[in-house]
Amino acid sequence: MPALHIDGYVIVSADGMLANAGRAMPDELKFEGDKRFFTAALDRADLIVHGRNSYEDQPNSPGRKRIILTRKINAIAPDPSNARATLWNPAGASFEAACDHAGVDSGTIAIIGGPAVFEMFMDRYDTFWLSQAPRVNLPGGVPCFPGVPRHSPQEILAAHGLRAGESQVLDIADGITVTPWRRTI
Ligand SMILES: NC(=O)c1ccc[n+]([C@@H]2O[C@H](COP(=O)([O-])OP(=O)(O)OC[C@H]3O[C@@H](n4cnc5c(N)ncnc54)[C@H](OP(=O)(O)O)[C@@H]3O)[C@@H](O)[C@H]2O)c1
Repeated sequence: MPALHIDGYVIVSADGMLANAGRAMPDELKFEGDKRFFTAALDRADLIVHGRNSYEDQPNSPGRKRIILTRKINAIAPDPSNARATLWNPAGASFEAACDHAGVDSGTIAIIGGPAVFEMFMDRYDTFWLSQAPRVNLPGGVPCFPGVPRHSPQEILAAHGLRAGESQVLDIADGITVTPWRRTI
């Protein structure tokens, strides 16, 4: 298979959560600057990958090819509700087989969560784009990766061979930044 470039994307609260205690992404974790960054990144991607409860909810979403993880099927199946989506159970088929079903054998793949899906690709990211909302706390929320909050998201990315590059400010008023964590080994 030709090279796939794999990028991860998440926005986390100061306490490392990607969703609130109700397992929902609250409005307080939604920021215009981050939405613009995320939308532009997904518009450039050839394929989006996420768990059954995650979605990006953008105007261009219907046009995007995607792989949705679910245990409701044994291996790989078309999604009856979306002709551009492939349902994938990693217990029954490889990621490469799922990409093949989706018709993508090269280009950029965007992994957009949730936590178990992020973890599955931890040793395969070329770049993980970590957006941070330093003034938001979500007590009892959903940690962005397994192992948070015992370890910070940054410690987990570093433990998987990723190193922080230069952060960009996405939203000055709320202090929102994004940091690319790039593979060095
Ligand atoms: N802040 C952010 O940037 C961000 C990013 C992503 C998600 N979120 C939020 O996080 C919440 C979703 O969290 P979630 O934990 O429910 O995540 P999720 O990964 O979207 O959904 C979990 C579901 O995905 C499937 N799945 C996950 N791992 C699997 C595996 N190894 N094999 C087969 N199927 C697998 C299962 O579907 P079945 O039940 O069908 O088997 C599982 O129930 C949402 O509120 C979402 O908006 C926020």
